[in-house]
Amino acid sequence: MEPKLLSGKKALIVGIANENSIAYGCARMLKTAGADLAITYLNDKAKPYVDKAVSELTPDIYMRCDVTSNDELKNLFREIESKWHQLDILIHSIAFAPKQDLQGHIIDCSKEGFLLAMDISCHSFLRMAHLAKPLMKNGGSLFAMSFYGAEKVVENYNLMGPVKAALEACVRYMAVELGPEKIRVIALSPGPVKTRAASGLDKFDELMLRAREKSPLQTLVEIDDVGAMVAFLASDYAKNITGDTIYIDGGYHIVG
Ligand SMILES: NC(=O)c1ccc[n+]([C@@H]2O[C@H](COP(=O)([O-])OP(=O)(O)OC[C@H]3O[C@@H](n4cnc5c(N)ncnc54)[C@H](O)[C@@H]3O)[C@@H](O)[C@H]2O)c1
Repeated sequence: MEPKLLSGKKALIVGIANENSIAYGCARMLKTAGADLAITYLNDKAKPYVDKAVSELTPDIYMRCDVTSNDELKNLFREIESKWHQLDILIHSIAFAPKQDLQGHIIDCSKEGFLLAMDISCHSFLRMAHLAKPLMKNGGSLFAMSFYGAEKVVENYNLMGPVKAALEACVRYMAVELGPEKIRVIALSPGPVKTRAASGLDKFDELMLRAREKSPLQTLVEIDDVGAMVAFLASDYAKNITGDTIYIDGGYHIVG
């Protein structure tokens, strides 16, 4: 990683639960590339695990933010404005669906479970973009995490398939709306990574096995691979990339 690639850039990372989180790989690589970090944790219960993970990252801003709370979201962006006066990079790396809705048939999922999954995993990205836009005066980049199950039916991905499909569609519409402000919007689609969120999916180990066996590179993705891609995409080297879903999956999606 070129150490000065993102020197002085201000990056907000939402979605670190622990050192296995994809967001943690993103934060680590953005830091290595020279960015200053703002990091959030979900709530008091989650905080000790996030404390441990971020201690080496020395974020300028470290705040609680449950995206279902408009107050917590607004406080976060208020703090960014008062400390940094700007924002260059935003990483949305969060998802949630109630287990009983996620692990059953999609036609059996409750309206409440579906709406909650959509709210936390998709609409919150729009809310964050709304708050980030005035701070991205010199342009910027917004990233959200998707998965191949958005595009093709992946066994046991169930409810999260349509949620991620909506997220990727939002990315395209946001890219058009925000393009004139030089704000780029990109969905990242990593292959399966063993994280806390992933443990909510039935038979996740089988998904990992399949990814390793079938991907052209016959490999599994690591969180730093996602972080390295984010660092590149947030840099000027990627200044003409927006609206896309970028796969980091050893090529699985071309054969999967
Ligand atoms: N693990 C995988 O295989 C994989 C593959 C592709 C995409 N993704 C996506 O990557 C993203 C990160 O997931 P991960 O796998 O790193 O798991 P993770 O469990 O490490 O991260 C999920 C994060 O979502 C946060 N979150 C949940 N509800 C929230 C709320 N209301 N407000 C704020 N934060 C909330 C959690 O606190 C946690 O930090 C998710 O969007 C996930 O769907 C994961």
